Amino acid sequence: MSFDEAGYRAHLATLSAQWEDALATHGFDAAVVPAGISAMYFQDDQAPPFHPNPHFARWFPSDDCEHSVLLLRPGQAPRLYFHQPADYWHAPPAVPSWATALDVAVHADAKELREAVAKALTDIGRVALVGPAEASELNLPPAHINPKALVNALAFARASKTPFEAASIRTATAIAVRGHLAARDAFHGGGSEFDIHMAYLAASSQQEAKLPYPSIVALNEHAGVLHYQHYDRSPPQPTRSFLIDAGGRANGYHSDITRTYSANPGDEFDALVQALDAKQQTLAAAVRPGTSYIDLQAQMHHAVAALLVEFDLVRCSAESAFERKITDAFIPHGLGHLLGLQTHDVGGQLANANGKMVAAPKRFPTLRYTRGIDVGHVITVEPGLYFIPVLLDALAETSAGKDVHWPRVKEFLPCGGIRIEDNVLVGAEATENLTRPVFAELAQGSPPSPEAL
Ligand code: GLY
Ligand code: MN
Ligand code: MN
Repeated sequence: MSFDEAGYRAHLATLSAQWEDALATHGFDAAVVPAGISAMYFQDDQAPPFHPNPHFARWFPSDDCEHSVLLLRPGQAPRLYFHQPADYWHAPPAVPSWATALDVAVHADAKELREAVAKALTDIGRVALVGPAEASELNLPPAHINPKALVNALAFARASKTPFEAASIRTATAIAVRGHLAARDAFHGGGSEFDIHMAYLAASSQQEAKLPYPSIVALNEHAGVLHYQHYDRSPPQPTRSFLIDAGGRANGYHSDITRTYSANPGDEFDALVQALDAKQQTLAAAVRPGTSYIDLQAQMHHAVAALLVEFDLVRCSAESAFERKITDAFIPHGLGHLLGLQTHDVGGQLANANGKMVAAPKRFPTLRYTRGIDVGHVITVEPGLYFIPVLLDALAETSAGKDVHWPRVKEFLPCGGIRIEDNVLVGAEATENLTRPVFAELAQGSPPSPEAL
C-alpha cells in the first residue's frame, strides 16, 4: 500500500487549523496526545492487540506507536516523542519515512520519554491532555484531562473527512471488497463459517487482530444475531443463507460493509434480499447535505413495512405496520453511523462544536447518527430485515402481533435475516457510494494484489 505523502501533509495542515481553533476557543496553549499503552490481561504477561488513541492516530496514521506521545502547540510543527525501544523480543517500531512532516524525537526508554514530555510542558501555560491519561503520568489538573468541551469540538470536526482520510477509506474499501468476493465464493462452495472467515482474511490480506472489527460471518439463523461472533467449523445442513459484515483498514481508517446471499439463487429469500438491496440503494442515494438522517431512519422503517406487506409477512397495511411498531421487531438497529478511525466514529449525535447533542428519537433509540448530514461525512447506510426469535416472541404477545402472518415468518426464520451495508461520502453536489463501484470493478477480473492498492 503506497502512502500519499503530499495528501498527508495537506491533512496535517487541516488538523493544525482545527486543533489551533479548538485550543484557542477552550483556553489552552497546547495539547498532549498520548498514543496509549495496551495493558496486560489480569495476572498475565500478554496484552490485547494495541489500538492507538484515535486523536493520536489522526495525526500519526500507523499502529506502531505504543507509548509514543504528541505535543501540539499552535504555530509549531507537531512534536512526536516516538518510542523505539532496544527490544529483541519484538521488532521495534521504525520511524516512518512520512514522519518527516513532524518534529520527531526518538526515545528508547518509555519512562524517559514521559519525562521529556513533562519537561517540555514546564514553560507552557495551560496544557490539555487528550487521550488515555494513565499513559502519560503527567500531573495535570483534572479539568485539563480530556476537557469535555475541547474533546467535543475535536469530535465534531472529525466527522468531515480530509481528502487523505477519504482516500484511506477508499483503500480500506478495496481491501474489504476483495475479501467479500472470496467469502461469497467460499459460501457458494459449501464452506463453513470458519472456512469463509479464513477465505476473507486471506483474500483481503488482513490478520485477524488488525481487522477494523470482528468479522460477522453468519450462516442460516446466525444471520439473525446482529453481532454474531462465532465461526462454526462445519456448515449447517442444509445451508440456506449467508450474512457477512466485514471491513478493512488503511492508515487506521475503516470500511464497514455487509452483504447477504441466498444459498439458492432465485428462491424467496433471494427475492427478499434483492428487494431490500433495492431499498438500500434508494436510501443511500437520498443521503445529502441538509437531509435529516432521522427522517431516513423513518424512511427505512417504511421501506421494511412495504416489504413485510409485499412478502405476505403481515396482514395489515404498511402504514399500520409502521405506526404500530411491527417494523421495530424486524429492524432493531439504526440505519447507520459515522465511519472513520473508529467503525462507529465519534460525534454522530453532536449538533455543533459546542457540544450540543441531538439525542436519538424515542422511537429509534439505537440510532447513532442524528446530527445534520454535512459535506465530507462518511457514513454507513445499512438497512436490515431480520427474523429474531426473541423480538418476534415479544411481538406475538402484543395486539399488533395478531396482524403478523406467522406461518410465513416461520418459513423465513431459518434464514436469520438480511443486512446490506455500503459506505457513502457526502459531497456538496453529490453523494458518492464508496462501496458499490468497487464490487462491480473487482468482480469483473481477478482482484489486484494488496501491493497494487
Ligand atoms: N459492523 C458493525 C456495524 O455495521 O455497525
Ligand atoms: Mn457493519
Ligand atoms: Mn455499520
